[in-house]
Amino acid sequence: MSSKNRSSFQVKPGGNISGRITVPGDKSISHRALMLGAIAEGETTIKGFLQGEDTLATAKVFQQMGIEIENNSDVVKVKGVGIHGLHAHNKALDFGNSGTSVRLMTGLLSAQSFNSELIGDESLMTRPMMRVIKPLRTMNADINCSDNGTLPIKISGGNQLTGIDYEMPVASAQLKSCLLLAGLYAEGTTSIVENKATRDHTERMLGAFSHPVIRNGNKISINKADELIATEIIIPADFSSAAFFIVAASICSGSDVILENVGVNPTRNAMLKIMELMGANIELQNVREQSGEPVADIHIKSSELKGIDIPEELVPVAIDEFPAILIAAACAKGTTRLSGAAELRVKESDRIQAMLDGFIATGIKAEATEDGMIIENSEFKGGVVNSHGDHRIAMAFAVAGMVSKKPIQINDCDNVATSFPNFVDIAKNAGMNIIYD
Ligand code: S3P
Repeated sequence: MSSKNRSSFQVKPGGNISGRITVPGDKSISHRALMLGAIAEGETTIKGFLQGEDTLATAKVFQQMGIEIENNSDVVKVKGVGIHGLHAHNKALDFGNSGTSVRLMTGLLSAQSFNSELIGDESLMTRPMMRVIKPLRTMNADINCSDNGTLPIKISGGNQLTGIDYEMPVASAQLKSCLLLAGLYAEGTTSIVENKATRDHTERMLGAFSHPVIRNGNKISINKADELIATEIIIPADFSSAAFFIVAASICSGSDVILENVGVNPTRNAMLKIMELMGANIELQNVREQSGEPVADIHIKSSELKGIDIPEELVPVAIDEFPAILIAAACAKGTTRLSGAAELRVKESDRIQAMLDGFIATGIKAEATEDGMIIENSEFKGGVVNSHGDHRIAMAFAVAGMVSKKPIQINDCDNVATSFPNFVDIAKNAGMNIIYD
């Protein structure tokens, strides 16, 4: 058991979501900006960096390897040391709760001249790592982990990697990005085929650092790099954090809100499509491009939602939004069915089980399947929910509290700080009746 103080949220029923909201910077893009900035030539400036525990874990790991990072909260400057400039570290690298950091960095560290040991918190230590270890071994990495295929990962440095052709067995941007980072160092070309599209932030950002990937249909290739060139990255607000307010505004009558400057990359934004199919009233305004990423202001008004069968092809492109989407499903007339979402079982918690537990605790009729869930329109009656230490489960049930008959208390909420440290303040200002203790 961690020694952390396990805080809780208490949300009282009522209120709606109104005004203009800016949620913090995108977590996925913030990690990648640090990683590429660290191994680029020159100084990279990152604007809108997410000051969350996960991205700060990535920053700390690079500081352990000799990278100077100036963190002035709204602007982060990374002094790049070049492709081969990282230093050996003498302590295990602790990635906290962050699956993205550890999986991407396993690719980068497999190519270094020094040894590395990678560890994380209770949750991260149980998450599957063989998906990255297997292809990295094929690339000639010397890499080991526990017998269960979990952390700690131990890498013996000094091996020259070689490019591979790899068809991804699982739709995972973390796996794809891990191999692209290893591919920067591998002799020849590293090619990855993805049968289902996953978020493409790494591919886009490599272009910004002057080492573009080659795309051919669903095949992405990267050549060994001599250098990356430092740049300025402006990070949009995180769509996955905006998701909680998209749902809250949709289900609380009288809501009318604009979420500003949100990343709407098409490999991330399928939740918009899912919510539209459910009857949500969502409009994208002022669509523009920023540092190679599409960005928009999202205008949401409350509406009557109806249950749907969620199209399976949208699942990988909305993977982090399901805790929020499933709350919307409970409020939607009729039945909603989610399938093809087994990956939810290996996130920060088993999100299918965690959502089911929360639904049972608050009076919602739902049934878990191996790869999804069936949810019947029912009333949140109130109760106590265990977030299982998962930030997105905690925030999803906070949203449910707004439409509940009696208050909902959510326990074990410390990890909300991994992705959305000021969630309570922003939610309160927008109209949620939430207390944090
Ligand atoms: C992420 C990819 C997704 C997502 C995670 C962030 C990324 O994981 O769930 O929160 O930044 O690459 P998978 O790629 O494992 O599905």
